[in-house]
Amino acid sequence: MGFSLSNSSQKLSSDSPIGIFDSGIGGLTVVRQLISELPNENLIYLGDSARVPYGSKSSKAVIQFSIQISNFLLKQNVKIIVVACNTASAKALSILKEKFQIPIIGVIEPAAKKAVETTKNGKIGVIGTTGTILSQAYFREIQDLNPKIEVFSKACPLFVPFVEEGWIEEEATSLVAKKYLAELVDAGIDTLILGCTHYPLLKKVIQKEVGSSVILIDSGHETAIFAAKVLKETNLLNFEKNVKPSQKYFLTDLPLKFTEVGSNFLGSKIESVEQVSLD
Ligand code: DGL
Repeated sequence: MGFSLSNSSQKLSSDSPIGIFDSGIGGLTVVRQLISELPNENLIYLGDSARVPYGSKSSKAVIQFSIQISNFLLKQNVKIIVVACNTASAKALSILKEKFQIPIIGVIEPAAKKAVETTKNGKIGVIGTTGTILSQAYFREIQDLNPKIEVFSKACPLFVPFVEEGWIEEEATSLVAKKYLAELVDAGIDTLILGCTHYPLLKKVIQKEVGSSVILIDSGHETAIFAAKVLKETNLLNFEKNVKPSQKYFLTDLPLKFTEVGSNFLGSKIESVEQVSLD
């Protein structure tokens, strides 16, 4: 079923791919969730590994990069764009939605919604990059849904390099997690949003620090469920079951060890990656 764009001659069809982008390879945790939620879909992933991290960059830079990447994905004829990067979702989503005519979804709204539905004591914790936390995007989204909810936010910038180093269950990781998360534990949160692409890999250590009664919300998982809903509502779900869906991975740089690290994020081996220039 087609979905025509109001200002372009481009015609979207259900077998067009889903475009996903991130600052690097962390967004493969979101791809993993999309594959499990939407196994028939063709996917195109763009990781801006040449300019990672976004977490410490200015809003202006993140917006400019996000527009450039969305243009690249649109040239690949994607039917929807999933902004897998929490920092880009926080800083650029509203501008992308204004600028482009296809459905564009970020990770903040679905995660915030799930957290609001989940909390029983009205105290939600949010962790993310410095950029995501300073933007207050999660705080605003939660407050819009329910102004009575208290939000306790904490930037955890060291988690990203730890995960990329493969330090998932090291003692140092637990110590850092303890230091970052202590104030959220003291605040008595019962729900914690993992507001960064890398944090699902630290679920075990985070859960240990906050205690088993705190419910962790995986923004990538919630986003995959939301993407399925949006595709259904726009009649863009791919029902083609006889053709093996394709997954294409593009990076703006091919960093050392990227297949090894990337496969950790994806949960399976990345078959091939192509380097692209966005200029
Ligand atoms: N992908 C980013 C995010 O989810 C983390 C890595 C970065 O700082 O670019 O916010």
